[in-house]
Amino acid sequence: MDAQARYELFDVIGRGGGGVVYRARDRALDRDVAYKVLRAAFSTERERVRFLAEAQIAAQLEHPNIIPVHDVGTTPDGDVFYVMKRVEGETLGERIKQYHSGSADAGGLIGLLQAFRGALLAVAFAHDRGIVHRDLKPANVLIGLWGEVLVVDWGLARPFRASRGVGSTARDAYGGALTLDGEVVGSLKYMAPEQARGEVDRVGPAADVYALGAMLYAVLTGHSPRKASTLQELLAAYTRRPALPSRRKRGAIVPPGFDRLTLACLEVGGDLRPPDAGIMLQMFDSALMSGLKGEQGATASGEYSVEIPADARSSGESRALPPFPPRDASPDLLTSVDDFEGLEDPVRA
Ligand SMILES: Nc1ncnc2c1ncn2[C@@H]1O[C@H](COP(=O)(O)OP(=O)(O)O)[C@@H](O)[C@H]1O
Ligand SMILES: [Mg+2]
Repeated sequence: MDAQARYELFDVIGRGGGGVVYRARDRALDRDVAYKVLRAAFSTERERVRFLAEAQIAAQLEHPNIIPVHDVGTTPDGDVFYVMKRVEGETLGERIKQYHSGSADAGGLIGLLQAFRGALLAVAFAHDRGIVHRDLKPANVLIGLWGEVLVVDWGLARPFRASRGVGSTARDAYGGALTLDGEVVGSLKYMAPEQARGEVDRVGPAADVYALGAMLYAVLTGHSPRKASTLQELLAAYTRRPALPSRRKRGAIVPPGFDRLTLACLEVGGDLRPPDAGIMLQMFDSALMSGLKGEQGATASGEYSVEIPADARSSGESRALPPFPPRDASPDLLTSVDDFEGLEDPVRA
């Protein structure tokens, strides 16, 4: 069955920079799917190659929290498309809005944190496989009706080191570029400073950690940490340290340890962030656990039990990923929230 006969397209369920997503029916397997297409008429050859790389990366990253890809192809008109599991539900962004506008109960925060953790698991897996997502934001995290969490939109993803078979097409498609026709790509509110400045070689797993930190900030407070509608405003916003999540919103429920973790992820220079999502996951769980144990915020040096391997600090293309789970332990990276108070983070030219 050719693609046009096989897939029946219905309404548009999403539209963004990277194509149009339709609700569709797979007649061969008799099930609902999501069909993402990049029209030949509105794209360059290079964009279509990148689109196919997006499909391949998502397909190769087989993980319960990464959108499964069922099919990929080109129509006779030259449109490129891929077919994925259709998630019926909402985005993390919609859930954050509902909870923080008061239309969801306190139990809603558990769901948000659980959804966030699902995204964290997905990105930890991608980092382990040598892939950075580079466009993490609440709109790219889908939450199904049964609580399943799926990270979508791998359109900016690329390999950051020789990886185990994932992303070979992407390497060719991007060749390291972070800009589309000279424009910085990604989503401003969640974008790491090195990405906003177009420092391609420095955009690695820690840039995803920044975006995850910004998402966690939004989960906890309902606000993004650094507001900006233009790149100029964003670059200026990096010079200011965001308010602690616990102080950003009156009545916000912020488990102890999360203030510090969130701001660590949002550190501008990058060297103090958890170096990748796997390590951030351990810190997240540790903060959650201390919340469950009813501990006070662990701000004194040494109280924080998450330890980061000494060799996991450097960033950039050449950095080998730390063993996961880490074997070696080093002193706590973040001694206290107060360390960030005086942290100068001037935007480097
Ligand atoms: N598999 C899917 N199931 C349901 N909705 C989806 C699916 N994939 C994407 N969407 C919806 O479409 C929107 C855009 O999809 P995305 O892949 O992020 O495209 P873009 O690259 O244009 O941002 C998402 O934010 C989401 O709301
Ligand atoms: Mg998107």
